Amino acid sequence: MAKAKSYYFCQECGYQSSSWLGRCPECGKFGTFVEEVVKMESGKRKVESGKTQSMPKRIQEVTYNETKRLSTHCAEFDRVLGGGIVPGSLLLLGGEPGIGKSTLLLQTALAIHDRKLLYVSGEESEQQIKMRADRLTHSSVSPERADSSPSLGEQLKSAQELYVVSETVTQRIFEHIDAVQPDLLIVDSIQTISTEEVESPAGSVSQIRQCTSEFQHYAKTTGVPVLLIGHITKDGTLAGPKVMEHIVDAVLQFEGDRNYGYRILRALKNRFGSTSEIGIFEMQGNGLREVPNPSEFLLGQRDETLSGAAVAATLEGARPMFIEVQSLVSSAVYGTPQRNANGFDMRRLSMLLAVLEKRCGFKLGAKDVFLNIAGGMRVSDPAIDLAVACAILSSNVDIPISPRIAFAAELGLSGEVRPVSRVEQRVAEADRLGFEKVFISKYNIRELDPRRFKIEIVAVSVIEEAFRGLFA
Ligand code: TYD
Ligand code: MG
Repeated sequence: MAKAKSYYFCQECGYQSSSWLGRCPECGKFGTFVEEVVKMESGKRKVESGKTQSMPKRIQEVTYNETKRLSTHCAEFDRVLGGGIVPGSLLLLGGEPGIGKSTLLLQTALAIHDRKLLYVSGEESEQQIKMRADRLTHSSVSPERADSSPSLGEQLKSAQELYVVSETVTQRIFEHIDAVQPDLLIVDSIQTISTEEVESPAGSVSQIRQCTSEFQHYAKTTGVPVLLIGHITKDGTLAGPKVMEHIVDAVLQFEGDRNYGYRILRALKNRFGSTSEIGIFEMQGNGLREVPNPSEFLLGQRDETLSGAAVAATLEGARPMFIEVQSLVSSAVYGTPQRNANGFDMRRLSMLLAVLEKRCGFKLGAKDVFLNIAGGMRVSDPAIDLAVACAILSSNVDIPISPRIAFAAELGLSGEVRPVSRVEQRVAEADRLGFEKVFISKYNIRELDPRRFKIEIVAVSVIEEAFRGLFA
């Protein structure tokens, strides 16, 4: 007989304790412990039955097949995964409610037309899933979408082997799996799924932990990959289950500003690929569209005569991304000048302002400074520094910088223009996008062969030089 026992779990980090605690010794949060009844399996049954299954092997004898990765038929998604879904892997897709997780996975499920899939939803009925699928495959809404995936609409009608079911109990989900025998399982969302093994409600730490390990066991023993959706709390952590992050093979995060169309998919953890790659999507009326050339999309059109804008050649992962930095400098109305940055680190902005004050002699202390990264992007690449500084200077002197000029350099505390990584790739991309001039650090110029590029390369060593080059 199974024995019921209760434990106290920290709802923030999943720390388990046999008694109630006021403060979690693991994450230090107060008042996060909640009692959860856990039904214990009697004895060590599972360990014994699995005794003969695994045997240590010499590493030379272990074989695997890299080509077995399952393509999602979506270049951006595959890129973030590191080239497709690895058989037997357990993936977690996290994101705020309403950001588009269900849309992304249902759309992916519809695109993987050569496999048998099972889409389990604990949030929506089969009818609602169908309604969404119809919306996603309805290509007449936006004609330009038709050429990117011309047959998505027809696929739904013909040989599509996508099974959908609305279900919340893992034991019954596994019955459905036995009946369908899918090649890929999608579960939307882990917070709505519960197992009979644990008595606490769906979404609690012990439920999430137990359900996740049941799916992990299924994935590892059958080789069928499992994609789980998980919600994220407002402060950006996966709701409750820090515990999940350790169990799953990859944690993908879907994020974006809801006021803009774009969504960014990034890997926070990936056992089978790099975590620096990002995938960029645009949410449209009929689902998510891949954005293969984010620069062209982010730069948009700009009036030549407006001051305060500069283009930065940044890298996200291995991919160059050109981003417009906008700045507004105006006389401070109140005693304390205002500083405001969107998509850029505030402390970094203060540092750059101090450098500009000291080196370029601007009285920025008496000015309000607002900074915005166009398109709601968040940038942490230090190569954006020079563009930020030049945008601020441009607004301050009210002289526009040509939109055909790009910047790629970091700024040091003494105003020196520092080299950045992979400058060649940035310059080549600027060249390809039709920029006329690119400002880089003098220390980067050795890595470049200027004859290879049409673009004019301006190498500077201190910020004053860039300033003179632009506004003198
Ligand atoms: P959804 O995938 O339900 O979010 P999540 O599963 O992360 O909670 O996405 C919901 C939002 O996406 C909703 O605000 C409507 C929007 N949306 C579109 O703009 N176009 C579409 O084709 C679809 C299906 C949704
Ligand atoms: Mg959803």
